[in-house]
Amino acid sequence: MDELKTYEGFQPRGSFTEDFYELLSHRRSIRKFKKKKVDKKTIEKLLSAATQAPSGKNRQNWHFFVTQGQKREEYLKYSQKSWLGIKDVLKKKLKPSLYQFTERFFYTLGDAPVIVFCYSLNSPEERYLTSIGSVYMAIENLNLACVVEGLGCCTMGAPLEIKADVDRFLGVTELKEHKKGELELLCAVVIGHPDHDPPKAPRKEGVITWVES
Ligand SMILES: Cc1cc2nc3c(=O)[nH]c(=O)nc-3n(C[C@H](O)[C@H](O)[C@H](O)COP(=O)(O)O)c2cc1C
Repeated sequence: MDELKTYEGFQPRGSFTEDFYELLSHRRSIRKFKKKKVDKKTIEKLLSAATQAPSGKNRQNWHFFVTQGQKREEYLKYSQKSWLGIKDVLKKKLKPSLYQFTERFFYTLGDAPVIVFCYSLNSPEERYLTSIGSVYMAIENLNLACVVEGLGCCTMGAPLEIKADVDRFLGVTELKEHKKGELELLCAVVIGHPDHDPPKAPRKEGVITWVES
């Protein structure tokens, strides 16, 4: 299966412009990782890259909860629960081998040693969608920084299936922002050293309409 090819990594070609576009096209979701830790300094660097993103009214309304080690192990039972909310849709959509691969991914998170839970701090002073979009801009930076560091990641909306469980699991329910209803889980990003090199999913055509007079 293509998903099991060895990860070759991002290969810069020398010019900044070419490398930048190469970086974008090289990024793909990684769902199988080596059982190897990511050091804390690197995680800090990735999250620092995330926070370079633009944000509506410059609110920088992202917040990241990082889990590793035992806490990450404990999360697996929640990840398995989130699979229950998703599996029926995927069963219809995916071919059997990919369905099984995805099921295994939800059970093990592909052995990714790091899970970053991404939250938005919403506020009446900014439109809801702008707040959410701002955090997703940071998440794309995080995705790209992983590639540059030779790491892989997969952004996961699945934790939204079990949002209340995740809030409790992380202790977010105890925070005053959560009690005020302002702190909202958007996704998790699992991060680690890639242990496969899946093909890039083809991009859709026809997504641009030129509106000219
Ligand atoms: C908001 C968001 C939520 C996603 N949720 C999941 C998920 O729960 N599980 C998963 O395996 N992949 C998830 N993905 C990854 C997508 O499946 C993936 O980005 C898409 O298939 C395109 O593949 P590529 O990232 O390799 O280009 C998510 C991606 C985004 C942006």
